[in-house]
Amino acid sequence: MAGVDLRKTTTMKIAVFSTQPYDEAYLQQANDSFKHQLVFFEQPLSASTVALAAGFSTVCVFVNDRLDATVLAEISRTGTKLIALRAAGFNNVDLKAAEAYGITVVRVPAYSPYAVAEYTVGLLLALDRKICRAWVRVREDNFTLDGLVGHDLHGKVVGVVGTGRIGSLVAKAFKLGFGCTVLATDVYHDPKVEQMGVPYVELNDLIRRADVICLHCPLTSQTRHLINTDTIALAKPGFLLINTGRGALIDTEAVVNALKSGHVGGLAMDVYEEESDLFFKDLSNEVVKDDLFQHLLTFPNVIVTGHQAFFTQEALAAIAQTTLQNVTNFQEGNVDPAKLVKAVAVTVSCK
Ligand code: NAI
Repeated sequence: MAGVDLRKTTTMKIAVFSTQPYDEAYLQQANDSFKHQLVFFEQPLSASTVALAAGFSTVCVFVNDRLDATVLAEISRTGTKLIALRAAGFNNVDLKAAEAYGITVVRVPAYSPYAVAEYTVGLLLALDRKICRAWVRVREDNFTLDGLVGHDLHGKVVGVVGTGRIGSLVAKAFKLGFGCTVLATDVYHDPKVEQMGVPYVELNDLIRRADVICLHCPLTSQTRHLINTDTIALAKPGFLLINTGRGALIDTEAVVNALKSGHVGGLAMDVYEEESDLFFKDLSNEVVKDDLFQHLLTFPNVIVTGHQAFFTQEALAAIAQTTLQNVTNFQEGNVDPAKLVKAVAVTVSCK
C-alpha cells in the first residue's frame, strides 16, 4: 500500500474486527450509501490475529481489540493508514505508537449518550431494589420480600465522576428526575451542569459525601483505579458503586474486599478490568478461570452485565453511520477534528 494515494480509490478496504452479527447488520445497512469494501472478522485484533489486517487501508475495531505498539507496527508495515474505532473510548489504542507510525485514529465520540445514561439509572435501580433477585424468586413461585428491601433514591446523595455527554445526563436524571442531591467532579466544570444545581467538588469530597457513586470519566493514567482501597476508606459505609465507564476505573480486588467487609454496600458494573477475555463471547460451555470475576458473581449485592450499556438500536445505527462517515472523511482528506484521537490530550494505558 505504501505510496498509494487513498483519495484516488473509490472505496476504502476495511477490516472489521470483533464482529458480532449486529455489527455486520448495522454496518452493511449504513454502507449502502458509502460503498466501502467491508470484510468482517469475528476475532478481535491483537498480536495473534494481526495478519488478518494485511492489505487493508483501514482497520475498524471495538473496545476490546488490543492495538498496542506491536500490533501498530505490523499494521503499519502491511499498509494500514486508519484505525476507525466503533466506540467513544480509546484506551485500547497506543496513541503515541499510532502517531509514530503515521496512523490516523478516529472514533465515534457520541452515538447515544442516552443509551448509557439510561442504562446507568437502570443498573442502580436493579441493584438497590433487588429487581434481578426478585425476578428469580417470582419465577420459582417464591413471593416473599425478605431480603429485597431497598432505599428511596429521593434525597440521597449521588456523586457523578465525569460530567461529559453521559455523566451530565446521569446528573440530570438523578437531580431533576429523582430529586437526589447530585455532586459532580470533573477536570472541566460545565456551566450547564452547575445551572442544574449540581456543584463541582473535589473527588475525595464527592467520595466522602455520596450514597451512590457513578463513574463516567474516561480511563486514563490519571483515572485508573480511581476507586481503590484508599478512596473506599473515605466513602460512607454501605455506599453503592455503579460503573458503566471502563473496568479499570476501579481496583476490582479492593472492591471485592470492601464488599466482603460491607463497606461497599453494592456494586453494579457493565465493564470489568479484564473483560477482554470474557465479554462478547459465549463461554457457557467453558470453565471461566478468572477467579476475581467468579468471586464477584457470588455476592448477592453485585450485578454484572457484559458491556451492553451502549446497546440500543439508535446507538448501533449511529455508530455504523459515523464510523463509515469517518472513513470517507479520511479518504477525502477531511477528517473531522471532533472525531480525531490524538496522543497529546491524555496519557492512556493500552490494557
Ligand atoms: P465525554 O468525553 O463526553 O466525558 C468524559 C468526561 O470525563 C469529560 O467531561 C472529562 O472532562 C471528564 N474527565 C476526564 N478526566 C477526568 C478525571 N480525571 N476526573 C474526572 N473527570 C474527568 O465521554 P462520554 O461520552 O460521557 O463517555 C464517558 C465514558 O463512558 C467513556 O470514556 C467510555 O469509557 C465510557 N463508555 C461506556 C460505554 C458502555 O457501553 N459501557 C459506552 C460509551 C462510553
